Amino acid sequence: MDVLRERYLTAIAAAPDEVALEDLRVRAIGRKGEVSLRMRELGRMTPDERKVAGPKLNALKEEITSALAARKAALEDASLDERLKAEWLDVTLPARSRSAGTVHPVSQVTEEVTAVFADMGFTVAEGPQVESDWHNFDALNIPAEHPTRTEMDTFYMSHAADQTDPPHVLRTHTSPVQIRAMNRFGAPLRVICPGRVYRADYDQTHTPMFHQIEGLAVDVDISMANLKWCLEEFCRAFFEVDQVELRFRASHFPFTEPSAEVDLRCSWEDGRLKVGEGDSWMEILGSGMVHPKVLKAGGIDPDKWQGFAFGIGIDRLAMLKYGMPDLRAFFDGDLRWLKHYGFAALDVPGLHGGLSRPA
Ligand code: PHE
Repeated sequence: MDVLRERYLTAIAAAPDEVALEDLRVRAIGRKGEVSLRMRELGRMTPDERKVAGPKLNALKEEITSALAARKAALEDASLDERLKAEWLDVTLPARSRSAGTVHPVSQVTEEVTAVFADMGFTVAEGPQVESDWHNFDALNIPAEHPTRTEMDTFYMSHAADQTDPPHVLRTHTSPVQIRAMNRFGAPLRVICPGRVYRADYDQTHTPMFHQIEGLAVDVDISMANLKWCLEEFCRAFFEVDQVELRFRASHFPFTEPSAEVDLRCSWEDGRLKVGEGDSWMEILGSGMVHPKVLKAGGIDPDKWQGFAFGIGIDRLAMLKYGMPDLRAFFDGDLRWLKHYGFAALDVPGLHGGLSRPA
């Protein structure tokens, strides 16, 4: 028994891991282990022999059991120590500063507007910024001699001297995407088209590049009433107020008939804009019922389908909602301005979580 004790206690104390430890347990006190076999022999001993051997064997079994438990605990401690050493972290290190980048108000407002219209069932369509003369003008019922071509201060792309390539412009509005969307998807259709547009103009509220969002809905039985509801709903959601009042002013666009410019009731108090109350009106968009010639250019039969369309200035909306007085600062890339007016990168606008949470 002394030999057994010596052998197992030494082996247990030196066991390198739990697998080796389990192997030793089976060999010593498992069902067919050496100690267990000895205990089975007790039955064949004389009562006197048993009185001596029994307690000794029990004591040995207990000794081995507690040695196994002690070694197991020691191995666990050692592995924890190792992990603590390996997964070391210096909590006294200075914190990393918040990432310097923010989301530009134009991107933010584009996302906000998209979230509102997506909720009304509009999908997003895109078109090129270098646009064919035909998409930007002719297809929108603006023929070559039409005064709008000069009124819009168009940037023309340079053109082969022999005039073999069709003329291109930097698109002056997002309306050409209406034509592209109609030709691509047909009717019925509900799209919004956000993007950059270009006009040669520069002052506090005009920059040569700015942003618009075009809306187009084509279906049977669409009327100005649908347009009005849609725009009112949009303004309430976008400006995050319960009540808005819109004023539809008769206007003229070659691509809509009838046409209306839309003003928003607001007030300016201490240089801050309040939407839905007051005595001022702010023009925010152009709109109307899609001209039959435009539907035709989009490959849609005007005897069967009608539609409404609108074009909103994104930068103008951003200035109104977030109180930025000068549009030119939008595109200066001044880090102080971006930090002040920027939005946190992970706050994605949505109707459920709230549209806007300034950084
Ligand atoms: N394209 C017009 C503009 O840029 C806006 C507009 C779009 C008007 C759609 C009516 C319908 O001024």
